Amino acid sequence: MDRTVDFLVIGSGIAGLSFALKAAKHGKVLIVTKANEDESNTKYAQGGVAVVVDKKEDSFEKHINDTLIAGDGLCDKEVVEAVVKEGPERIREIIDYGTNFDKTNDGIYDLAKEGGHSEFRVLHYKDITGFEIERALLEEIHREPNIEILTHYFAVDLITQHHLGEMVKKSSDNITCYGIYAFNTETNQVEKILSKVTVMASGGAGHIYSVTTNPTIATGDGVAMVYRAKGKVRNMEFIQFHPTALYNPGEYPSFLISEAVRGFGGILKRTNGEEFMQEYDPRKSLAPRDIVARAIDAEIKKSGEDFVYLDIRHKKKADIMEHFPNIYAKCLEIGLDMTKDMIPVAPACHYMCGGVLVDHVGKSSIKRLYACGECSSTGLHGANRLASNSLLEALVFAHRIYQDAVVDFQANVLPPAIPDWNEHGVKLSNEDILVTHNIREMQKLMNDYVGIVRSDFRLERAMRRLRLLYEETEDFYKQTKLSVKLCELRNLIQVSYIVVKSAMMRKESRGLHYTTDYPEHAQVLEDTVF
Ligand code: FAD
Ligand code: SIN
Repeated sequence: MDRTVDFLVIGSGIAGLSFALKAAKHGKVLIVTKANEDESNTKYAQGGVAVVVDKKEDSFEKHINDTLIAGDGLCDKEVVEAVVKEGPERIREIIDYGTNFDKTNDGIYDLAKEGGHSEFRVLHYKDITGFEIERALLEEIHREPNIEILTHYFAVDLITQHHLGEMVKKSSDNITCYGIYAFNTETNQVEKILSKVTVMASGGAGHIYSVTTNPTIATGDGVAMVYRAKGKVRNMEFIQFHPTALYNPGEYPSFLISEAVRGFGGILKRTNGEEFMQEYDPRKSLAPRDIVARAIDAEIKKSGEDFVYLDIRHKKKADIMEHFPNIYAKCLEIGLDMTKDMIPVAPACHYMCGGVLVDHVGKSSIKRLYACGECSSTGLHGANRLASNSLLEALVFAHRIYQDAVVDFQANVLPPAIPDWNEHGVKLSNEDILVTHNIREMQKLMNDYVGIVRSDFRLERAMRRLRLLYEETEDFYKQTKLSVKLCELRNLIQVSYIVVKSAMMRKESRGLHYTTDYPEHAQVLEDTVF
């Protein structure tokens, strides 16, 4: 069934839902999401939302400064200032929607601290903040008659002039988005969804690596779709590895041990019990993530062990259980009592700092297409995201996009005769296992050659292998009836290609991109855009 709507939103995490709630006051909103409505990176967020609440100790200037330091010179200062300053108002809105954040016995917000933050400023709900935000947003969405959600619909491609038979050149400033082709996983049919405005809110790409904290939906679909439609993407080499994922061999994806555990006093130790972070940074276990992840990587390489320990045993049992009930329960499930045992941890791919290039109101380089949340590159994170700034960015940009998009969306007319999806000549595959093989091969090569410490030699190896996988996958794609797995494989390979290409272009080490061939900062600050 084909549809036409005012606002089409791809994704039902914090970015998509918070935009949808606002746009619904102005027109019909359709949210298309590829799994259950709550499945998203948002749902698994633990630590919380960084925002200046306590103006006695904290200030906008301090939060801005911490963000700029973590970003290692590459943040857009104007965006940093806007997100930090507009943050409190956006947080007030989600509290009004019914989101709970923990308070102390005195009734004031219980603020946590995480790596790279100079003050306690992280609002949280136990250690399941994302679950609580997603719950509150979805409940509000269900109360809104102007919003429809299609679950288990997979956005395959953006519809642009290309589908009308026109030539579209890369980086042309005249590409326009008219909606998407979406795969209905119940009927196995591709449907056409046309829209006056489209918001890409499809989240991250953790699954380009085999070790990741991200749920399985995070396959970089939005970035791949925009790239195929010849839109611009930026700074994709900056993939953030979270320093402390639970080391539990065989578990996929990895369970996160929140940075808030270190903010609460947790100390990183070698397997022989020695502290080591003082040898890497004066901020020790609470240094920004890129530094801590690299330090752990170095320790693991030196010791030959697969993990280091996180030790929180010196804190009171009741306090640990009150602040981290989810982490405590998870550890118990695998036979560890974190109040008595040290927790084995290792870095895991966690967050995509680059993404679809957008301007200060979330507009992409493709007309009528905005991007919001983790799939976008707003300039906030620079070369390394400050912990708990992601949820905040999504809220602030969802609002900015809403303000811009509602002004003249009614004037966006759709061209006649947009063709249906063409699957002429494709066959059902009887070799789906080949898709699984290619995903595994790709994830392994990304782990082996495009990890925390890179080199030209490793990146070239990765690129040669990716090219082969790319060609095989494109051939298979052209001949085979669509499936979600096949589309995800294609997207994962395209995103991995962009990550490796961007990494090869950056001839310096900065933030999350560390290469042994160019260990210093370059003189000139540059974004990688293509
Ligand atoms: P998501 O929440 O990932 O939502 C993306 C949506 O798009 C999903 O609904 C998905 O199903 C849908 N989708 C994707 N592709 C398609 C497609 N092709 N078709 C249709 N639908 C599609 N950040 C913080 O600020 N604080 C934290 O404490 C924190 N903790 C984290 C803990 C974990 C374990 C993880 C994984 C991340 C954490 N982050 C945290 C990061 C943060 O959660 C995410 O960056 C943020 O939630 C992203 O929101 P989003 O709306 O952009 O994307
Ligand atoms: C965490 O709780 O450590 C995750 C915070 C984040 O990714 O911002």
